Amino acid sequence: MVFVRPADLSDEKFLWAMLFEASHARDRGLTSPEQLMDQSNVARYVQGWGVAGDLGMVGGTDGVLLGAAWLRRFAAENAAFGYVDDDTPELAIGVAPESRGTGLGTKLMTALLDAAREQYDAVSLSVRLENPARRLYERLGFVDVPGSGQTNPAGTTSITMLLRFR
Ligand SMILES: CC(C)(COP(=O)(O)OP(=O)(O)OC[C@H]1O[C@@H](n2cnc3c(N)ncnc32)[C@H](O)[C@@H]1OP(=O)(O)O)[C@@H](O)C(=O)NCCC(=O)NCCS
Repeated sequence: MVFVRPADLSDEKFLWAMLFEASHARDRGLTSPEQLMDQSNVARYVQGWGVAGDLGMVGGTDGVLLGAAWLRRFAAENAAFGYVDDDTPELAIGVAPESRGTGLGTKLMTALLDAAREQYDAVSLSVRLENPARRLYERLGFVDVPGSGQTNPAGTTSITMLLRFR
């Protein structure tokens, strides 16, 4: 039985595990989520989870957590990879490798965006150009931000995508 529920403070450890997936940490030679904690550029997506404005969804099957989508705002002086402005939160998403392509990511995104729509005008994200997840984001209404391409730690290009609610 597939479930999706709002992320709470007790989910922080799981969010670190999903940040490991979302940030392609394995490609960078990392082996555990704990190793992300002193990589401030990545850690800032989860560090201190539960500050005002944070919103997240976790989900899985039969009570086992397998994926998470969450968002948080960043200030200009700490602009994260998909920063647009101080009012627009940036979304991150990860699903356990063995569970990808089964619809969980779509359910997490849909639930998170439904919640985000209540309090934000738009949501952004940063994605590698070659990531098949771009199709998922486009289906949900995200569009490329012109001129947002930047070189990522893998040496390929990442771009910012934006979904406007109003
Ligand atoms: C992106 C991701 C969260 C999607 O979750 P999911 O449960 O696999 O997604 P769903 O099954 O609901 O939807 C399928 C869509 O997800 C994307 N997707 C599927 N497998 C994927 C994979 N291995 N890597 C990246 N995206 C994938 C595709 O857009 C796919 O749509 P398509 O069938 O039209 O190609 C998940 O695949 C994942 O964790 N990938 C690796 C980490 C990542 O790339 N995170 C996003 C960083 S911006």
